[in-house]
Amino acid sequence: MNSSVFSFLSDFVFLLLLFIQIPSSLSNDDLLTACSNQFFSCGGISAGFPFWGAGRPSECGIPELELKCENDIAKMKINQVAYRVLKIYQYYPILWIAREDYSVGLCPSPFMNSKFNPKIFESVEGYRNFTLIYGCEDAYTTIPGPRTFTCKTNDGDGQSVYIQEGDNGPGECNGSVIMPVSIKDFPTVWNMPAVEEQLKKGFEVRWKVDMGLCPECFISSGVCGIDNVTNQTTCHCPDQTSGSKTCAPPAPTTIPAPTPIPAPGMHSAPEISL
Ligand SMILES: *[C@@H]1O[C@H](CO)[C@@H](O)[C@H](O)[C@H]1NC(C)=O
Ligand SMILES: *[C@@H]1O[C@H](CO)[C@@H](O)[C@H](O)[C@H]1NC(C)=O
Ligand SMILES: *[C@@H]1O[C@H](CO)[C@@H](O)[C@H](O)[C@H]1NC(C)=O
Ligand SMILES: *[C@@H]1O[C@H](CO)[C@@H](O)[C@H](O)[C@H]1NC(C)=O
Repeated sequence: MNSSVFSFLSDFVFLLLLFIQIPSSLSNDDLLTACSNQFFSCGGISAGFPFWGAGRPSECGIPELELKCENDIAKMKINQVAYRVLKIYQYYPILWIAREDYSVGLCPSPFMNSKFNPKIFESVEGYRNFTLIYGCEDAYTTIPGPRTFTCKTNDGDGQSVYIQEGDNGPGECNGSVIMPVSIKDFPTVWNMPAVEEQLKKGFEVRWKVDMGLCPECFISSGVCGIDNVTNQTTCHCPDQTSGSKTCAPPAPTTIPAPTPIPAPGMHSAPEISL
């Protein structure tokens, strides 16, 4: 009689504990797990904050830095233009990208210029800007070598492409696309294959997201993310809070957890004394 009452009570306490613990494991605890354990990983490219996407919820990064993984190729869109992500140097912090539409040739349709929100991105030293100018018969060129290339469009008509040095607008022409070229591997001849190669090689941009609190957040058992109300960098913590710079030390538990009974044959790990 006594033992069955005890058994009932212990079952009851067990169920009670289940119900207490399940709701509290949702929300921010999941954000912590989702943002810290699941670094973006795709085709050899990995990234943490301020990137999100591909399994990382939006609270793990800033809205402008969403990554996708398609057939093991990391991709992202910046101002509506699709890029392949070739490298992410998480600690520099530099993103190396190449225009997806130019992977097939010099004449994508429609022409979309690369634009970068100056609040999020800045250019990296060691590059010079060039501009591809489309659809002008007499745009002057500052590049030695062939003045112009002809690219074929879907409707069969060719459009001429000029290359100018600098970060220029289309002026009277049909369109312009900026192409940063690394000074280190400047083409010796600016012919069409060289230009196509530069476009495939891509270029680097630096992101300017505030990551200053992240080391301290990490040390306090949290992970950097975004507060989805204020859009500020925040620390997602094990105690289900967000919004502070670091996580509070774990509060002492008021209900002591039941001591697990070791299963036969299982031994606790030996203690190591230092
Ligand atoms: C290249 O152009 C971007 C704007 O598109 C500008 O921010 C950057 O300073 C330019 N870089 C150089 C080396 O002129
Ligand atoms: C400019 O673009 C339009 C539409 O794509 C095209 O029909 C036209 O031929 C282009 N102009 C030149 C000079 O290539
Ligand atoms: C912010 O995040 C919370 C918790 O993840 C979610 O319930 C809420 O809908 C989000 N709000 C917005 C505006 O995205
Ligand atoms: C946060 O970012 C979202 C998406 O870019 C925007 O809609 C919202 O207005 C921003 N909120 C604040 C407080 O800036």
